[in-house]
Amino acid sequence: MLSLLERLSRRLADDGVGATAEHLRMRAHERYRDWRLGVDTCGAISSSALGGDASCVDYEPVNYKCLDAAMDYLDVRAGEDVFLDYGCGKGRAVAYAATMPFRRIIGVDRAPELCAAAKDNLRRIKPPVRCADIDIVTADARVFDPPDDATVIFMFNPFTGQILADVQEKIRQSLARAPRKMTLIYLYPHQRQEDAFAGRPWIRKTCELPTRSWRSISTLAIYESVNDAAAANAAE
Ligand SMILES: C[S@@+](CC[C@H](N)C(=O)[O-])C[C@H]1O[C@@H](n2cnc3c(N)ncnc32)[C@H](O)[C@@H]1O
Repeated sequence: MLSLLERLSRRLADDGVGATAEHLRMRAHERYRDWRLGVDTCGAISSSALGGDASCVDYEPVNYKCLDAAMDYLDVRAGEDVFLDYGCGKGRAVAYAATMPFRRIIGVDRAPELCAAAKDNLRRIKPPVRCADIDIVTADARVFDPPDDATVIFMFNPFTGQILADVQEKIRQSLARAPRKMTLIYLYPHQRQEDAFAGRPWIRKTCELPTRSWRSISTLAIYESVNDAAAANAAE
């Protein structure tokens, strides 16, 4: 295990003074935003350490700048909209959503230790809390049925491949059972070019923009449900 000083001098040697200073500034900003919200969600944990397979992405909290951009896009219907975070980790996006007037909030994650951390964070969240009806569910997204009143779905690159396909199918089935306006926020690494929701007639992309966190760029893609029974029933 490298000491803090060793890691810092290694980073200085690899990235130079300017990039290292920018990295430290970004980390301080993330810590500051956690502090303001009253939570502790920083740090990454590998999926293998959490017992996940290759399609499960590591735990890494969504960067606050990206989260601001995503949440700014929403026009939350107070007391109506229900927020669901797939792969909620330590609960950063869920805690942020609690400061908005959602009717209900659900976070789901396969890792029990992350769900425990999310619950701890939600107990400590600083006011103003505008939604207190929050559930953290420990479950694999492959077997979790999204509630039929979920109207805002948030995904910060939680999984890929067959898991993502299975989850998309579960969302489609929910829309077919209960047609409704649903907004889906999907943040994923910019270098991944393909649109994971392309060709699905039950959802259409309304916005795509790059959002920048230190060194990496994520794509923020926003989709809206197509409220048309034929589209929702068109199994893929
Ligand atoms: C990149 S992190 C996102 C964390 C959180 N949404 C945030 O924005 O701060 C991805 C999360 O997805 C979870 N995850 C990965 N595969 C999963 C699966 N099959 N079912 C449920 N959660 C999963 C991981 O445990 C991890 O916490």
